[in-house]
Amino acid sequence: MKIALVTGASSGMGREFVKQISQKYPKLDEIWVIARRIDRLSELQKEVKTPLKIIGLDLTKDESLNEFESILAEYKPDVKILVNSAGYGKIGNVEELAYEDVTGMIDLNCKALTAVTYLVLPYISNRSRIIQLASSAAFMPQPGFAIYAATKSYVLSFSKALGYELKKRNITVTSVCPGPVKTEFFDIAETEHSIPFYKKVVMADPKKVVAHAIKEAAFGKEVSVYGKLMQAFKTSSKFLPQKMVCNIISKGR
Ligand SMILES: NC(=O)c1ccc[n+]([C@@H]2O[C@H](COP(=O)([O-])OP(=O)(O)OC[C@H]3O[C@@H](n4cnc5c(N)ncnc54)[C@H](OP(=O)(O)O)[C@@H]3O)[C@@H](O)[C@H]2O)c1
Repeated sequence: MKIALVTGASSGMGREFVKQISQKYPKLDEIWVIARRIDRLSELQKEVKTPLKIIGLDLTKDESLNEFESILAEYKPDVKILVNSAGYGKIGNVEELAYEDVTGMIDLNCKALTAVTYLVLPYISNRSRIIQLASSAAFMPQPGFAIYAATKSYVLSFSKALGYELKKRNITVTSVCPGPVKTEFFDIAETEHSIPFYKKVVMADPKKVVAHAIKEAAFGKEVSVYGKLMQAFKTSSKFLPQKMVCNIISKGR
């Protein structure tokens, strides 16, 4: 059974990945969709032709990861596409954040993403694709979004290295690094503090970001960055002094 597996499929880019993968890869037998809100996942079935296997899991919980491992062992799918989209961020200085968010961002964005990738690896066949949702926040430390940015640097570093390890199996790993994207992400991110005005102006359309990512993953690109502005940010992050950028970010808040 050939499948795609998408975490964070109940909203935003994960949901969009499910829709676009269903259209672009009609030969897949199923798309497995993971999130906590199973009502949202069930509704998604109305919008896609490919049968969905709905898996309600809180990926920050060890018992959920154990359950996921058992489901894989039971069905033994051939995973052609893995998309790790589950993730969240909270804006605010570290000392202002709640303890459960300080550790929760790391649990979901780093630990769960790594665990899901690791558990799926035995079921990924040659010439398959792994798509990891990182962020342009991965390119630089971000005062006021420090833990989130650090978790995404982890995703980018981990995914790049994994890509080299999997070359012999012709499996590619693409890190998707968008700037701000118009999704429910900000309903959670902005609970206590707002994003700066300039980020609101450059919000991208999730449909376009996902279409671009699927295309670049098909070509085996290591990093997918949507839009000229974010591409310029990625390039400049390689030579601009981090101290200067951190000062600018701090003053722009
Ligand atoms: N939006 C942006 O500006 C932006 C920019 C760069 C990168 N990203 C990254 O892109 C990815 C997708 O974000 P998005 O913008 O699509 O956000 P979103 O609309 O808030 O979607 C996040 C998804 O993660 C799932 N999720 C959250 N906590 C979970 C948990 N404990 N267990 C399982 N699933 C969980 C949510 O489902 P449930 O609540 O139903 O569990 C939801 O489906 C994230 O990794 C994010 O960091 C976002």
